[in-house]
Amino acid sequence: MASPMRSLLTDPARYLQSFRLFLEKSTEHQSMREFMEKQLPTLIASIGNGKSTINILSVGGGAGEIDLLILSKVQARYPGVTINNDVIEPSADQIFKYKERVAETSNLENIKFTWHEETAYEYESRMNAEKKSKKWDFIHMIQMLYYVKDIPATIRYFHSLLEAQAKLLIILVSGTSGWETLWKKYGSSFPLNDLCTYISSADLRRMLDSAGLKYQFYELPSHMDITSCFTEGNKDGELLLDFLTETQTITFADAGDILFAAGLLVTRTIRCFHP
Ligand SMILES: C[S@@+](CC[C@H](N)C(=O)[O-])C[C@H]1O[C@@H](n2cnc3c(N)ncnc32)[C@H](O)[C@@H]1O
Repeated sequence: MASPMRSLLTDPARYLQSFRLFLEKSTEHQSMREFMEKQLPTLIASIGNGKSTINILSVGGGAGEIDLLILSKVQARYPGVTINNDVIEPSADQIFKYKERVAETSNLENIKFTWHEETAYEYESRMNAEKKSKKWDFIHMIQMLYYVKDIPATIRYFHSLLEAQAKLLIILVSGTSGWETLWKKYGSSFPLNDLCTYISSADLRRMLDSAGLKYQFYELPSHMDITSCFTEGNKDGELLLDFLTETQTITFADAGDILFAAGLLVTRTIRCFHP
């Protein structure tokens, strides 16, 4: 029977509100920052060798918090080099916040920002229609692959845009996380549509293996405070639960059960690919 619940993606304002609360209540960005500080410098060590311009493509860049950190690491590795940073992001609100962040940040003089207000698929279709296949030195897709219709095709397309020394970085929930437990156990009750796929690193690994793509794998522990989800009528709890299930608010009786099963530890996974 089709699920009576509605996807959170049908309400973009609530989606963003719940995502921002999730960032506040979790160590999501903190764990990504740690990765960008400790691992990224080595991974990008050769992407710009011999180049006067480095081209970076952010797919689903959101409000740019992590993007700016990535850019600072590229600047540190290649001081003075010109960087073109293109962002594919369908949410006008996120792009607005990204631009505000750029305006408030110093030391970005050598970076040219270009925002494309469209989905990954719209970008691909537009490029194909214009017969363009611009290549990139670094492409990242951070917590966004859930929202594309055809994940293997999307990975194939962006992977084909990599320069010889380039890297593609994908961040998704881990196959050993509470998210995976929650989604696998209750996924059949979630809204079934093409707005959101409950994909984890375990599913991604299978896709990459069957595509014969070479990759490196990193696992990052991150946590989320879900206490408010157990207080009936608590607005934060409802928003967090919406984000966890990518579904608009469901009843508390269901929620308590689901979240207990999801556990307190949430692990995120980072993968880095070679062309
Ligand atoms: C969970 S947020 C992650 C944002 C950012 N990468 C971060 O980690 O802070 C997902 C982002 O993907 C964007 N998005 C949703 N569907 C998309 C699509 N089909 N193509 C590209 N981006 C998409 C959303 O607007 C949102 O900004």
